[in-house]
Amino acid sequence: MSITSQEFDFVRRLISTSSGITLEDGKEYLVDMRLASVARQFEISSVSDLIARMQSPSETRLHRPVVDAMTTNETSFFRDLHPFDAVRTDLLPEMMKLRAAERKLTIWCGASSTGQEPFTLAMLIREHFPELARWKVEIVATDISGAVLAKAREGIFSQLEVNRGLPATYLIKYFQTGAKGWRLKDDILKMVDFRYLNLIEKWPEMPSCDLVFMRNVMIYFKIEIKKAILRKIANVMRSDGYLLLGGSETTLNLDDAYQRVPVGKTICYRLGKAAGSAAPKKV
Ligand SMILES: C[S@@+](CC[C@H](N)C(=O)[O-])C[C@H]1O[C@@H](n2cnc3c(N)ncnc32)[C@H](O)[C@@H]1O
Repeated sequence: MSITSQEFDFVRRLISTSSGITLEDGKEYLVDMRLASVARQFEISSVSDLIARMQSPSETRLHRPVVDAMTTNETSFFRDLHPFDAVRTDLLPEMMKLRAAERKLTIWCGASSTGQEPFTLAMLIREHFPELARWKVEIVATDISGAVLAKAREGIFSQLEVNRGLPATYLIKYFQTGAKGWRLKDDILKMVDFRYLNLIEKWPEMPSCDLVFMRNVMIYFKIEIKKAILRKIANVMRSDGYLLLGGSETTLNLDDAYQRVPVGKTICYRLGKAAGSAAPKKV
């Protein structure tokens, strides 16, 4: 039996205020389906009972797992491929020239889910830029969901997960088999620092970033939230850095501080008045 409209409204409000995620009308079935596992986890007999308990001030401990369960964590290695081509052919070579004196690069993957995106970047760096092994390369990966962060930190992936997008040569080179699946070798695992960060709350101190990946998360947010996040990204991104968004996301009509920079088949964004940086390329 599906949840009532009052129950749906309560969950919808909680999800919106805690994560910014908008649940459209008609998503009762989704709430019902996703919260069934939370109810089981806390040995609560039904989703309706779970929602009733969540409304008690003494049961706010249930809020976090419920928000976790309502996040969509879809991801894969080399997702969409061309953004990673752009990183390999243009963005990293350019950044390496710009940062040659500092020998330091910082990449941030906001909304990194189970880690395939930051680990793709880590492997790509090892594979194509061996000289960066002598640089300080920091890959910070953040997400709101404790469950996906815990999985990402383990660096263990199922056959199904590695079948999605990971070239066989990378699998052989950067993973080892284990009882629980394919485990990333320590060298790659250690390159990524996974942290909790809720994009709609006050952000913890972030390093200045050369590349920001904020892909496939703003689709879930209302316009005002997208605008606020783009503004905050501009503050953590170096003036000559690049932002990459998901295939259906854009800064257009949201924040005109960003310029579109087509690189191969992908669109990157950089801050308009990039002091001391190379002119945007039109590829
Ligand atoms: C569809 S995944 C995107 C993963 C990866 N960036 C990619 O493109 O493959 C969206 C992720 O955004 C996270 N998320 C949703 N709302 C968030 C918020 N307010 N703050 C931080 N992360 C959030 C979810 O937990 C989920 O892991």
